[in-house]
Formats: sequence, structure tokens, C-alpha cells
Amino acid sequence: MKILMVCLGNICRSPLAHGILQQLANQQKLNWKISSAGTANWHQGKSPDPRGIAAAKALGYNISNQKAQHFSAKFFAEYDLIFVMDQNNYTEVTRLAKSQADIEKVKFFLDNGDLPDPYYNDEWFEPICKQVENRCKALINLYTT
Ligand code: 4NP
Repeated sequence: MKILMVCLGNICRSPLAHGILQQLANQQKLNWKISSAGTANWHQGKSPDPRGIAAAKALGYNISNQKAQHFSAKFFAEYDLIFVMDQNNYTEVTRLAKSQADIEKVKFFLDNGDLPDPYYNDEWFEPICKQVENRCKALINLYTT
């Protein structure tokens, strides 16, 4: 299964979801390929936010090798599922959809609303990283049972 995680900048939220889900899937020997992208192109080619790298590392995940990429319509063909972190991401991603099948690939990462953006709040990285980890574990249960 190929899964794309999408947020705005692809340096805070989606790299956490990308790296954590990939590592958990690998541990379970699942043949899952996770990637991530941003609806904005501002940070293309950049590493994840150092605060996110540190929060992930504290929980045992290494996201430091990722590079940000800009979301493109071509990803609809490449991925089975596209998870967005908030309502704005959903609007931007589905705006580029060419079919109902494309739109149906787009899901909210959380099942109960938006994942807050920690970009302007240093102290949010740690709890958000934990929240992402919990949700990634739930997603593995959801898509393997
Ligand atoms: P992300 O967070 O969408 O979770 O990667 C942000 C990263 C960068 C900016 C905003 C949000 N920015 O304004 O540069």
C-alpha cells in the first residue's frame, strides 16, 4: 500500500506522520510505502523542522532524512491513500483532483478534526508528535484488520 501524508509546508506535521507510520509499518513487516508532501512549495527540498526532528527522536523515530516536496496532481495516480492534516489541506488537494476516484483517496489523518499546526508554537511539537504516533498505530489496526 502506498500512502501520502499532506500538510501545508511539509516540514512539521506530515513529516512526523510519514516517518512514524513508515517505521511502525516496517516493524510490523507491512509492505507499506509512506511519503509526504506540502500544498505550498515554500520549503521544497528542505529537511523537517528541527523541533519536529527532536520530538520524533525523543519517541524513537528518525525523520531527519526526509526532504520536503510540493503536492502535485500526479500523486493521485501514485498513491492509494492521501491523508490530509486539516480542512485547508483537504480543499487544496481535492481542488487538483480529476475524478471522483481521486477525491475518494483523500482522507483526514485524524478521525475527529484537524491536527493543529505546531509551526508557531514550540511547545506543541511534543504532544502533537505523541498524537501522531497514537493515530499511526490506530491506522495500522484500521487498515490491517
Ligand atoms: P506544516 O507547518 O504545514 O505542518 O509543515 C507549517 C510549516 C511552515 C509554514 C506553515 C506551516 N510556513 O508558514 O512556512
